[in-house]
Amino acid sequence: MSQSSSDNSPGSGGADTLAPAMIDLSQYPVSDLNHPDSRAFADRCRLQYQQTGLCMLPGFIKPEALQTLASEASTFSDKAYFCKSTHNAYLDDGDASAAKDDTANRQEETFVGSVAYDYIPEGSHLKQLYQWDPLKDFIGHVLGKSPFYRFADPFGACSINVFVEGGEHGWHFDESEYTVTLMLQAPETGGAFEYVPQIRGREDEKEIVGAVLDGNRDGVVELPFTAGTLLIFGGNQTIHRVTRVSGKRPRLVPVLCYAEDPNLVNSESVRKLFWGRTSSDIQTNVAGSAQ
Ligand SMILES: [Fe+2]
Repeated sequence: MSQSSSDNSPGSGGADTLAPAMIDLSQYPVSDLNHPDSRAFADRCRLQYQQTGLCMLPGFIKPEALQTLASEASTFSDKAYFCKSTHNAYLDDGDASAAKDDTANRQEETFVGSVAYDYIPEGSHLKQLYQWDPLKDFIGHVLGKSPFYRFADPFGACSINVFVEGGEHGWHFDESEYTVTLMLQAPETGGAFEYVPQIRGREDEKEIVGAVLDGNRDGVVELPFTAGTLLIFGGNQTIHRVTRVSGKRPRLVPVLCYAEDPNLVNSESVRKLFWGRTSSDIQTNVAGSAQ
């Protein structure tokens, strides 16, 4: 199944002017990988990602742009589809031959909403940022991926995770190798991102996962939610969770997706699970702008 995407065309829309104005380029020179400074910075980020499993760039988005991005996202956060589920730490069917309380079968709870990409207006700041090629190229360099494309899925290319009162994401390893998120709006309480870095495949992985699920805090790192931070995260090697959110202000986190195949899209079952829709429900008439 393939889905054409005009968003993958270089320099689409007004991204070439709006996107770089949103980013603190003096601190994070990501605009031209051919420039030695930009290249050296991207190399350092790549090294950080390889050594630690994540690359965190606080203050990536300038404060004024952050306000605009957050207020825009708030205007269409009511389009979020909410998914409540239980799952094991591996997001799979578990081990039927093992006991119910085996690490492979223990269940975690997740309640999260997601605004699909086709609900995000053309011309919005988030879409302009996502469609800016130098950002894609920088992230591809950090991940060591070439060629590297924006994700062609009409729902999942760049969606926004919305955690309202009671929202949480239980302990898990991601199915995808990496995840790129933008910390856009912190909730009033909770919503901490916690992880135990790079334990997948270790000899003691099962013991560590079991201890984490028991609530043992050994090795657990909490990443501060600082709005404006860009996070590139190797989520299939590192168990992680988002703690329960409370309060009226939702935790908003855009998820920027990419692929090494320009035609890769989500399966219909994934679309149904996360956005409650299938390919027959694609919104094609989102005109105007949230600016
Ligand atoms: Fe995850």
